[in-house]
Amino acid sequence: MENNGKIRAIVTGVGMYVPDKILDNAFFEKIVDTNDEWIRTRTGIRERRMLENGATSDLATKAAEDLLKSKNMSADEIDVIIVATVTPNMFFPATACLVQDNIGAKNAWGFDLSAACSGFLFAFQTGCSLIESGKYKKVMVIGADKMTSITDYTDRNNCILFGDAGAAVLLEPTEDQNLGMQDSLLKIDGSGKEALNMKGGGSLNPPTHETVDNKLHYIFQDGKAVFKVAVKGMADISYEIMQKNKLTSEDISYLVPHQANLRIISATADRMGISQDKVMINIERYGNTTAATIPLCLVEYYRNGKIKKGDKLILSAFGAGYTWGAIYLVWAI
Ligand code: UT7
Repeated sequence: MENNGKIRAIVTGVGMYVPDKILDNAFFEKIVDTNDEWIRTRTGIRERRMLENGATSDLATKAAEDLLKSKNMSADEIDVIIVATVTPNMFFPATACLVQDNIGAKNAWGFDLSAACSGFLFAFQTGCSLIESGKYKKVMVIGADKMTSITDYTDRNNCILFGDAGAAVLLEPTEDQNLGMQDSLLKIDGSGKEALNMKGGGSLNPPTHETVDNKLHYIFQDGKAVFKVAVKGMADISYEIMQKNKLTSEDISYLVPHQANLRIISATADRMGISQDKVMINIERYGNTTAATIPLCLVEYYRNGKIKKGDKLILSAFGAGYTWGAIYLVWAI
């Protein structure tokens, strides 16, 4: 166990938002050279959502409002707001500031965190550390991405993968050592920067007509290269956190994997010796929503009555950077 202090961080509330507009596989058959069968068998995706009007702050705000409403809680109570995203409304101010203003969290501070598909895990660990410090009592961790805003709809390799969503969890302290955040293994390796990135718009390639003409403001992904490292990275780290915490596959109630590709998810579950019925999956309905995939799974499974207090969960992700990691969490509500 990593945290031997008195305070542990537990999830005490959840919220989510997905836009109404659905892009099904038939939509992509009309705009690029692809077909439903290829998309389903290579990725597991049937449809994804698209936010037509608005930005990532709207996805995050609606998820935060859903959480507050379901807890019957005032935004004044929130101490910290962390938004994991790679599609912030703008470079600054941070999307966390926009969410703070939208929900009226007048006593909160906060910030955005950029770790792509591992963003929720990194933000979750950060939020838990703030709780464990004893200084903060209510930390809202949000994963939100409007991936359709950086997707090139002429690139069949990538456009079929991504969708928009936001989801949030509330972290609070407990002295019960058997609940909440138990352990994490988190990694970055910037040597993977060429395989998955968005090169335009930053200080390296400030916006010019040329950067736009060269499509540098869209996601670039070498899918095959990322696939190989993602399968190994996610499977290895998920297995490692089990070993480190002496967990058998029977001990684990659910694997909660980042939803990038059903084949990566299955490989991770296989490595851990976990059967498919103990793997949270909703990729078929939402595609890859980057920082939102893991909290979106948690919210849906919790609200469907599939997770209960005391359940041992392994959260696991791999994404651009490279970034990757796993978290061992005991569900507390
Ligand atoms: O979330 C962050 C991390 N990202 C990931 O984890 C994503 C990792 N990568 C993947 O999930 C997969 O690599 C993809 C789903 C992106 C691609 O699947 P793949 O099995 O690796 O396919 P591929 O790139 O090797 O392409 C196989 C074939 C190619 O044709 P040829 O060269 O064999 O003739 C592609 O051109 O499939 C073709 N192809 C398509 N065909 C129909 C690529 N995209 C499509 C498409 N529809 N949309």
